[in-house]
Amino acid sequence: MDFGVWSKGLATLSVDCLVVGIFEEADLSAEAASVDAACGGRLKKLLERGDFAGRAGETLLLADLPGLTASRVLLAGLGARKQFHRRTWRKACGNAAAALLRTRIGSCAVAIARPPARELDDYYFGRAVAEIVGNALYRVNDLKTARKPAPAALRKVLAGPVRTPAAATRGLTHGAAIAAAAVVQRDLANLPANICTPTYLAEQARALAKSHKSLTVKVLDEAAIRREKMGCLLAVSQGSQQPPRFIVLEYRGAREGQAPVVLVGKGVTFDTGGISLKEPPAMDEMKFDMSGAAAVIASLTLAASLGLKLNVVGLVAAVENMPGSKAVKPGDVAISASGQTVEILNTDAEGRLILCDALHYARRFHPAAVIDIATLTGACVVALGHHHSGVLGNDDALVRELLEAGRRADDRCWQLPLTEEYGEQLKSNFADFANVGGRDGGAITAAWFLSKFTQGLKWAHLDIAGTAYLSGVPKGSTGRPTPLLADFLLRRVAR
Ligand code: BES
Ligand code: MN
Ligand code: ZN
Repeated sequence: MDFGVWSKGLATLSVDCLVVGIFEEADLSAEAASVDAACGGRLKKLLERGDFAGRAGETLLLADLPGLTASRVLLAGLGARKQFHRRTWRKACGNAAAALLRTRIGSCAVAIARPPARELDDYYFGRAVAEIVGNALYRVNDLKTARKPAPAALRKVLAGPVRTPAAATRGLTHGAAIAAAAVVQRDLANLPANICTPTYLAEQARALAKSHKSLTVKVLDEAAIRREKMGCLLAVSQGSQQPPRFIVLEYRGAREGQAPVVLVGKGVTFDTGGISLKEPPAMDEMKFDMSGAAAVIASLTLAASLGLKLNVVGLVAAVENMPGSKAVKPGDVAISASGQTVEILNTDAEGRLILCDALHYARRFHPAAVIDIATLTGACVVALGHHHSGVLGNDDALVRELLEAGRRADDRCWQLPLTEEYGEQLKSNFADFANVGGRDGGAITAAWFLSKFTQGLKWAHLDIAGTAYLSGVPKGSTGRPTPLLADFLLRRVAR
């Protein structure tokens, strides 16, 4: 996709389509008014007849209006002017992009009224436009045998109006890279678990490193994982025929001595629950249980494609959680790489078991910050639903950075408390801790467990169980929290 900016003269722009915003009650945005003036009041007339209500997200395609170089105009409903915010703007843009992609329009100028600059400056405007178009273009990598639909006609998108074209252009470049990274995450996560195995994830990481000079990869196989004494990770993996993989992706964008950001991803390529087997409904969705790993791989792709002046390490613990005859059993005790022992009371609480060994591995990089990303708990979905990811950590500044990154990227997270008293629930008679602490505060006790392996590190945990994928008719990976992580990394460069 070719992105650019336009700043004036909508009526004479040589594009196939102008996209303008209309508020409810036939209220024309400034850009819509300028198009209306150029075409002799055709828009006003249409609105007066009541043919387009301007409700948020509605669209209407008009053709061959006089006085315009563009052969089409797409109206995008913005809802009531008083309730117009980033969210309604994003929805209007997203629906407009979807409507454009159903046509043979090859180029367009987006001239949808924007929220005030304090809500969305030129840089974030450009970024959002490129991300929204990228998301609209995404097609699931399905395995349907019918002929694939024709590729989209849309080749060129001009965004505006902007006051500082340089900032908007930079935003468009970053947004396109973020959208491309989100595709990496979504494609990996959408694959079925019979294809996307731990071995497959490792191969993908290898392929990625091959295509970027700034990336190097190391893959630990089962024997190497054993040498690292990752007893908790191995306990999860032992019930499966699929061998585990521990993937180390290193991106070097700054001088060697600069402490890296370490991203750690939960890569359970399928979570049956193990011997503590899950109930059948929606079990297929546990193929998405490697979304954290996919987000880590996506974030390293992003760092490399933008050449961020930063060092980033991605660690992926990739396993399949199965109830095979060698599977770990409730009550078994595993020895983590840190030496701490864990009584595995529930084999379905496997994410924390692979993460605790991965987080311990992070120490050798003397990281500036460690962030783990995991579809960790159903309890987080109960607490926050599907809009916010959960964030917990041992460093308030780092947690704040993530909260703010999420807000700026429209990929928000919400902090849950992480205080000592939750540890009571993980007491074990037979090991240092149990891996579960009952239903109550389940997202927090899971994070508390991880905190026992990150002492002395600046660490935060993102629980993306409710945000990484959608269920039901739109079932599929959302690509979250790649936009959040992208914003976090971009800000780390700037500081
Ligand atoms: N992968 C699941 C968490 C999950 C649940 C993600 C629903 C997405 C949607 C995780 O491994 C798990 O099974 N967690 C258990 C923990 C429990 C046994 C303490 C859960 O949340 O039920
Ligand atoms: Mn589980
Ligand atoms: Zn899981």
